[in-house]
Amino acid sequence: MKYAVETFDLTKNYGDFTAVDKLKMKIRNKSIFGFLGPNGAGKTTTVKVLTCLALPTSGTATVAGYDILENPNEVRQKIGMIPQMVSLYGDLTVKENIHMCADFYGVPEDLIESRADELMEMMDIKYAENKYVSQLSGGMKQKASVVASLIHQPDILFMDEPTIGLDPTTKRILWNLVEELHSEGRTIILCSHDMYEVELLCDDVGIINNGVLAAFNTPQALKDAMINEQKNVKNSKRSNIAKIVEEIQKEATPEEYAAYDKIKDHAEEENRDTRQLSVIISNLNDELFNQLKNLSITYNITKQSSGRITLDILDSDESVTEVISTIIMNNGIITSISTKDPSLEDVFVKVTAKKKEGGEI
Ligand SMILES: Nc1ncnc2c1ncn2[C@@H]1O[C@H](COP(=O)(O)OP(=O)(O)OP(=O)(O)O)[C@@H](O)[C@H]1O
Ligand SMILES: [Mg+2]
Repeated sequence: MKYAVETFDLTKNYGDFTAVDKLKMKIRNKSIFGFLGPNGAGKTTTVKVLTCLALPTSGTATVAGYDILENPNEVRQKIGMIPQMVSLYGDLTVKENIHMCADFYGVPEDLIESRADELMEMMDIKYAENKYVSQLSGGMKQKASVVASLIHQPDILFMDEPTIGLDPTTKRILWNLVEELHSEGRTIILCSHDMYEVELLCDDVGIINNGVLAAFNTPQALKDAMINEQKNVKNSKRSNIAKIVEEIQKEATPEEYAAYDKIKDHAEEENRDTRQLSVIISNLNDELFNQLKNLSITYNITKQSSGRITLDILDSDESVTEVISTIIMNNGIITSISTKDPSLEDVFVKVTAKKKEGGEI
């Protein structure tokens, strides 16, 4: 099986409103897939349909190789679900909830106890196994929900914003668990607004907007596409302005011609390809700062506290090397260096804003 999930024009309407609109999406088997999108984009609705908690209005999907309309029971056996709103019974204890889930999925009686214990230990919730769910904190409920959803060892795990409200330590426990499940060959479908989490965990990312898939690729490829797109936009702006100015210059007097040349230069400057470099030089002095400032590839340089400088330099492979070698030749000691490339969050903001204008990445 190549795809854990494949949707075929999957559509879900609520009355006149289309929450998921002819969605076509393929999630690779055994991958960690990040499902992103603004509030109300259709993530939870898609997950509900894929987990057979709601019926699609039209279209269909296969999950674990089974059609959600024709074989919903087989689908249910293969999947686990950590919902956005914890759906455990408040008047049952943690342990009772977990056992109920295990019974529902037909986990053999002799395996339930050991599996439940192992998962509860892992999620650090064993100490509260006899507490009523209604008496747990939000994070504790979420931990119990994770255990209940994994008790039948599903091949595909849907997680709808699972780390919301978790403290940083528990978040890490959950991330480790996701990686462990992944290494066991399970597929994880993770709805999240946490870009750090998504970059850390996900092999592929899909961004849904207004019920339509607006972007799909690996996190790195999405960021690379954005870098290239920014370059292309600048290039085309530059050449368009140059063309217009050259056209006007054909009829210009010599004085006007020179003035128009300045406009062209200004447009070149405004739209040149730059990249931002941030460097900490522990022994930064004025001489080194000025050397860096005077490099032909440096367009802008600012000094912050503790030896940190930020440079806007020409976007070429050589220019980073030139900055580094200038520092080293002047006996500067580099303690940190980083370039500012677009983040997944930049991609998200761009893709979801752009889609409203009808564009696509
Ligand atoms: N039961 C329902 N009845 C009517 N409309 C609904 C229902 N459930 C969801 N919607 C609408 O469908 C759209 C998609 O909602 P959904 O919950 O799928 O968004 P989401 O991407 O999960 O958002 P969030 O990031 O906020 O969780 C929203 O406009 C929502 O108001
Ligand atoms: Mg949601």
